[in-house]
Amino acid sequence: MLEVRFENHNRTIQVEPGANLREAAIGAKLGIYAHIFKLLNCRGRGLCGTCRVEILSGQVADRNEVENKKLAKALQKNPNLRLACQITVENNLVVRSHV
Ligand code: FES
Repeated sequence: MLEVRFENHNRTIQVEPGANLREAAIGAKLGIYAHIFKLLNCRGRGLCGTCRVEILSGQVADRNEVENKKLAKALQKNPNLRLACQITVENNLVVRSHV
């Protein structure tokens, strides 16, 4: 099992290697969406860009095309942004949601 710490929630969850970060967070009842986007999101299809997380430590695969497209402007301010729905957990991570 791997550990993912959600710094802004002050919680660490156990995650199976290969798990999707968005699904793991939701399964642990951790809110990764801000405000109305809890209801209005694309359910992990990479279309809405509302599942943003900041990777504070730990290794993840390089950003994919979906993320590069959805996060293009935001990455200029914060190069550590990712879309939780596009991340496969393969190492212990520390993340911040609602970014
Ligand atoms: S849930 Fe919509 S982009 Fe991740």
